[in-house]
Amino acid sequence: MAYSPLEDDVFIAPCVVTTNDNFMGRTERRREQIKGPTIRRGARIGGGAIICPAVEIGEEAFVGAGAVVTKDVPARMLVVGNPARVIRAVNEDELLENQ
Ligand SMILES: CC(C)(COP(=O)(O)OP(=O)(O)OC[C@H]1O[C@@H](n2cnc3c(N)ncnc32)[C@H](O)[C@@H]1OP(=O)(O)O)[C@@H](O)C(=O)NCCC(=O)NCCS
Repeated sequence: MAYSPLEDDVFIAPCVVTTNDNFMGRTERRREQIKGPTIRRGARIGGGAIICPAVEIGEEAFVGAGAVVTKDVPARMLVVGNPARVIRAVNEDELLENQ
């Protein structure tokens, strides 16, 4: 997970892929723009999800299994699919403050 800050209490399921170079090794411009995702506190990423470069996964957000995350995910929202879209908020009883 190079260039990918992970905050506290995140959950990364098996086979999650983080990416950090949208230019895939071409052009000089990529060198300034290489950046992995930022995974904010308490976020959870389901099995096999793919997270595109520089995307931010908000606090306590939930990424469903197999999602392809191309844009930032708002805090406490659940996304699924390719491209990942919000389907609902994370259940209150799953939030860290309620454990
Ligand atoms: C997202 C998830 C939590 C289910 O949430 P939910 O609110 O119970 O959602 P539902 O099962 O009611 O499904 C709602 C809709 O989203 C779809 N959906 C659910 N999970 C999906 C996923 N991962 N990818 C694509 N679509 C998904 C369902 O097919 C359904 O679509 P429909 O309305 O067209 O029938 C679950 O599917 C998931 O991905 N869990 C992650 C498991 C995991 O990776 N755990 C890691 C530790 S082992």
